[in-house]
Amino acid sequence: MTFQKINTSLVLIIFFAVQYTASTQNNTNIHFVIEETSFDRLCQSKKILTINGRFPGPTIYARAGETLALDIENKGKDNVTMFCCRGTGSRHVKFDQVEWLVEAGSKVRKNITISDDDEGTLWWHALDIWQRATVHGAFIVHPKPGTNQALPFSMPHDHVDIPIILGEWWKKDVKEIFLEYVDSGGDINSDAFTINGQPGDFYPCSNNGTFRIEVDIGKKYLLRVVNAAMSKTLYFGIARHNLTVIAMDGSPITEPFTTDYIELTIQHSIDCIFEANQQPNYYYMVDVMNISEVYDTNKITTAIIEYQGSYIPSLPPLLPLLPNFSPNYDKSSSRDYLYVIMTFVILGLFFCTTCAVWYRQTNRAHRSAMVTPM
Ligand SMILES: *[C@@H]1O[C@H](CO)[C@@H](O)[C@H](O)[C@H]1NC(C)=O
Ligand SMILES: *[C@@H]1O[C@H](CO)[C@@H](O)[C@H](O)[C@H]1NC(C)=O
Ligand SMILES: *[C@@H]1O[C@H](CO)[C@@H](O)[C@H](O)[C@H]1NC(C)=O
Ligand SMILES: *[C@@H]1O[C@H](CO)[C@@H](O)[C@H](O)[C@H]1NC(C)=O
Ligand SMILES: *[C@@H]1O[C@H](CO)[C@@H](O)[C@H](O)[C@H]1NC(C)=O
Ligand SMILES: *[C@@H]1O[C@H](CO)[C@@H](O)[C@H](O)[C@H]1NC(C)=O
Repeated sequence: MTFQKINTSLVLIIFFAVQYTASTQNNTNIHFVIEETSFDRLCQSKKILTINGRFPGPTIYARAGETLALDIENKGKDNVTMFCCRGTGSRHVKFDQVEWLVEAGSKVRKNITISDDDEGTLWWHALDIWQRATVHGAFIVHPKPGTNQALPFSMPHDHVDIPIILGEWWKKDVKEIFLEYVDSGGDINSDAFTINGQPGDFYPCSNNGTFRIEVDIGKKYLLRVVNAAMSKTLYFGIARHNLTVIAMDGSPITEPFTTDYIELTIQHSIDCIFEANQQPNYYYMVDVMNISEVYDTNKITTAIIEYQGSYIPSLPPLLPLLPNFSPNYDKSSSRDYLYVIMTFVILGLFFCTTCAVWYRQTNRAHRSAMVTPM
């Protein structure tokens, strides 16, 4: 795969660009360095384990059918087991490429072959719970060149990818917190949820860093949202903008649906389109644990959608609008999944019953064979 191919089919804005070296072969080489890095958040400075000094880590872009060579160098004090690219369908990469150890002080190369029919967003992360809290990032799979791309089904070719990693921040040392948690079995509450590493405007010492997306009116954007939080289901929405969900966990869905917010359970991802079709202004993108608390500014994590152009944003001093999550989240579109699940349950029951009957019969036959006098 080469850059030219990417450029002709997609214009990518790579917010957390990976060092992407197009080699003479069609392999893409990616270099990750595991290292401790200092960050200022919530009025304090502390070190966390990172990849390439970033939180969240770099986004990996791949194409269906491609083989990536991922070099990981561990400059940290601890061994790190990396985990990559498995959606719930668990068909994305070969079994022996899913997790691997990178010992402290060593460098490991892993080839990762993406299956042909994947497209959507997955994620990679460290396996250890305390390492996973900060060592994670999105893994975006674009369709094979020349194929009928199923994913951006109604997207213009020049759509813009925007990885959105929902994570958490702890003021204390993450390793200590998780070791305590393992000992005590208590809950692991963080000090703030984050959107691309930032708690947003409503947290102390945070508004300088609030994640922002500049958008052009009339354009569509493909948000690649991953819930990388440790244990909490999160809700995500944008003020006055709908989201059209087109893929989940690295696979396109059959019936895309439009909603005003999405619900993400941990370790899951959703690809959704939002169209910059509103009055030019600043709008908040919000991440909350409880939708009833979307107006409680002590409890919400925010990022900003900023329309380009010359206008005066509403509500000085540039306070963006908050989303209005309707209480009756339209779950009708989830019904399809329910049907699929029900079908599997029914098939499963049928299979089990058949199996049990078969087992009883063979067993009986077996037993009767055993008691047959010789
Ligand atoms: C490179 O691409 C060709 C054709 O698309 C394919 O047959 C080959 O397996 C690819 N090689 C690697 C190393 O991915
Ligand atoms: C790292 O892993 C190796 C191999 O499993 C093991 O021998 C070593 O003790 C581990 N080191 C640490 C610091 O856990
Ligand atoms: C990775 O793939 C390259 C060529 O595509 C091959 O030369 C190399 O041996 C592979 N490495 C591993 C660890 O499988
Ligand atoms: C925010 O940015 C301003 C200007 O760059 C700087 O003076 C200030 O210290 C920053 N505040 C924080 C909390 O980082
Ligand atoms: C969002 O979708 C609803 C239902 O499809 C529609 O009534 C509403 O006008 C849409 N809102 C925007 C801002 O596009
Ligand atoms: C959500 O917030 C509302 C209002 O603060 C509260 O009554 C409710 O118990 C919360 N729900 C959960 C699950 O925490």
